[in-house]
Amino acid sequence: MRRKSEPKNHMSCELRAVSVNESVCRAIIGVFLAPENPTATELADIKCAVSEAVTNAIVHGYGAGNEGIVYLGAEIYPDRTVRITVRDKGKGIEDIALARRPLYTTDTSGERSGMGFSVMESFTDRLRVLSRPGAGTRITMYKRLS
Ligand SMILES: Nc1ncnc2c1ncn2[C@@H]1O[C@H](COP(=O)(O)OP(=O)(O)OP(=O)(O)O)[C@@H](O)[C@H]1O
Ligand SMILES: [Mg+2]
Repeated sequence: MRRKSEPKNHMSCELRAVSVNESVCRAIIGVFLAPENPTATELADIKCAVSEAVTNAIVHGYGAGNEGIVYLGAEIYPDRTVRITVRDKGKGIEDIALARRPLYTTDTSGERSGMGFSVMESFTDRLRVLSRPGAGTRITMYKRLS
């Protein structure tokens, strides 16, 4: 979804890959979108999708050790489309199609259900996943506000 128009606002930030930053990212995206007056449902959906992507970067991208940076970016376009990017320079994903399948998880602790990508997909209009083993992962999500 290549956009012809320039964004009317954008932001980007870097956060350490520690679990407290899942809620920090939720808050940042909420504040950034507030001037657009999204509905409560839109806001909850976007926060949830961001939280899943950031959690994945922290838990799967970097894993234990807190060594790494999570990059969060967002843009708002004149037609009220929001584009959100969550990026890590962690271990990357071998098979993206497999990883995106509902219930697929590489977690062995029993803590994860393999539903993160499904949540991101259903709570946004479009989800793009780019990843290279050893290089990292970039998640791009689009949602048009009403
Ligand atoms: N940023 C990432 N870096 C490396 N691997 C990832 C990343 N994001 C996802 N994955 C891989 O994709 C799989 C599926 O991710 P998904 O978010 O759908 O499920 P989960 O994180 O395992 O469980 P849940 O999100 O329900 O807690 C993960 O188990 C992991 O192997
Ligand atoms: Mg997940």
